[in-house]
Amino acid sequence: MAIPQHTIDQILDRTDIVDLIGQRVKLKKTGRTYSGCCPFHQEKTPSFHVYRDKQYFHCFGCQANGNAIRFLMDIDGRNFVDVMKELSNKTGIDLPKDNHDNKKLSYKRSPQPTPAAQPPVTQDKTTELNPPIQTPMDDHFIDMDRFMDDPFAQFDPSFMVDENVQEGNLYDLLENVAQFYERQLPNSQKGQNYFKQRGLSAQTIQFWRLGYAPEDWQHLEKAFPQDIEGLKQIGLIRSSDSGRDFDLLRDRVIFPIRDHKGRVVGFGGRALNDEIKPKYINSPDSEVFHKNQLLYGLYEGRKLKANDWLMVEGYMDVIALQQYGINGAVATLGTASNADHLTTLFKQNSRITIAFDGDAAGQKAARRTLEIALPLLNDGRELKFFVLPNEHDPDSLIRREGLENFQKLLQQAPLLSDFVFAHLTGQHDVSSPEGKSLVMGELRELTELLPKQGSFRYLLTQSFREKLGLGKRFTPQISHDASLSFNIHTKDEDFAVAILMANPYLYTHFEILRAYINQDDLLGSILFKLDQIFESLPEDQEQAVYYALGACNSYANDIATILSITDIFSMLTSPEKAFNHAKEYSLGLQNKFLKHKIKSAKTLQEATNLRQKYNELTKQISLRLLS
Ligand code: UTP
Ligand code: MN
Repeated sequence: MAIPQHTIDQILDRTDIVDLIGQRVKLKKTGRTYSGCCPFHQEKTPSFHVYRDKQYFHCFGCQANGNAIRFLMDIDGRNFVDVMKELSNKTGIDLPKDNHDNKKLSYKRSPQPTPAAQPPVTQDKTTELNPPIQTPMDDHFIDMDRFMDDPFAQFDPSFMVDENVQEGNLYDLLENVAQFYERQLPNSQKGQNYFKQRGLSAQTIQFWRLGYAPEDWQHLEKAFPQDIEGLKQIGLIRSSDSGRDFDLLRDRVIFPIRDHKGRVVGFGGRALNDEIKPKYINSPDSEVFHKNQLLYGLYEGRKLKANDWLMVEGYMDVIALQQYGINGAVATLGTASNADHLTTLFKQNSRITIAFDGDAAGQKAARRTLEIALPLLNDGRELKFFVLPNEHDPDSLIRREGLENFQKLLQQAPLLSDFVFAHLTGQHDVSSPEGKSLVMGELRELTELLPKQGSFRYLLTQSFREKLGLGKRFTPQISHDASLSFNIHTKDEDFAVAILMANPYLYTHFEILRAYINQDDLLGSILFKLDQIFESLPEDQEQAVYYALGACNSYANDIATILSITDIFSMLTSPEKAFNHAKEYSLGLQNKFLKHKIKSAKTLQEATNLRQKYNELTKQISLRLLS
């Protein structure tokens, strides 16, 4: 049984790991975590920790770690599906039922022969034409090369189905219709002229499988007489009040819409001139077509190994950008972008960009998207806002500017923090104290939307206060004693200490280090202290810094020296920078400590677990370097 990622996520969301593990292991709340004796190895002092905010467990002794699913699999030696069934029962979130789903995907075919129709392809052939892609969430590296095979290979008649087959499959039907529309284009001068006038090359037309739907009111009925039932299910055939069937898309150029596996699931049809309304008609939602979960261009972008992803508004924007060499553009299907769309994109890359029109409507859309995006901004995700020059969409802009200039403009797109600052300060006169406090008030409304556990809220507020000249930044007073007591040579550990003292909320990025570090080290002691006080850190930025300094006052001298020699405050000028530095130093230190720890592992099991962690870490680091 294939369980979709969103179902797994949903089930994990509804499962509390502390409650779940608490039924098997005696847990005690200690600082930010719950701890107990590890069920995976013999021990007398508890080194097994469960993190509620991260829904994660970790044993500092044997290095066992994972989420709720991993815990149940490992503790009882059960397989994934078995565990998912149990969690599905507990949470009330249903797992997909294979048979049930297949039934919904089928329709009844009429028995009459099909003289005019192209023989239908079978399900097997469809899958072969459009091989499934694994999502990046999958554990394995993806061999994308095999998806570069020509997926539009010629139809192979040996896969013809028996014309007497009574049951049709919607995916097969959609694929057949896509091929039908594609075949109409070479016969239609109008259709070809339209694409030519929009500057699309033959290669582009082929890559996006663009087509043409003829003027005839019943061309699909004639081409697919056995499949009327199915065509109605996918909304391509409509019935008039008088009961007569007619085609939804007529005399329009056709954009087939593919899901993330490359299967055709729906169509967009554009009128051949702008006087005809509506300009675009999309086929309606169906069993296989869920517009608010799909992104046009996602499959194609992944096939082209896109790395940078850009959300735009229209089909033609996606296609024009790809033709010019920008591969990761995607568009929603005529609906506003929602949290699912953004989450899908964040799974491709933690840095994404959204394009907006420069006009008032674009500003409004940007604000709305901001509100949808804020709750999703955890784990160092970055969002950039690309505001287009007035009167332009990405299609027209790249045609005017060319690839290089377009990319320059794209790179200059502001980060969320700068965009929000510009957006809010554009609405108030910030030369007055009243204006400043209005901006801070509105910012507060926005930061309320950010994930509670993350450090972004705190960092954003901090950077706003600084930009508006509110409050003073903490500047350490170095006593002479301090500089004497500390041996000056800055190492990564010092930067970690500096980042933590300048932004105690970034502790969450470093807490993993507690598994490896000696508590007698300065960094180790500070991590230990921060763990104890993290829950009670004041929300106000300055207070939080003083609170943390107070808690660590036995090391005040060393800390003051480190803060000054690292010049940390000039490194953390934006929230995104602070995030990145925290992540970078945390990964670097994990790498260093793990290597050390592998050498001194006491049991084979421990060494194996450590090495596995090390491999995961190396993967994470190399992915970061690539992006
Ligand atoms: P736009 O109206 O912004 O047009 O629609 P566009 O993308 O620039 O189209 P061209 O360049 O004139 O061809 C943006 C998107 O909104 C949806 C379509 O998905 C379109 O790509 N849309 C637009 C509709 O669904 N229906 C419409 O009538 C218009
Ligand atoms: Mn356009």
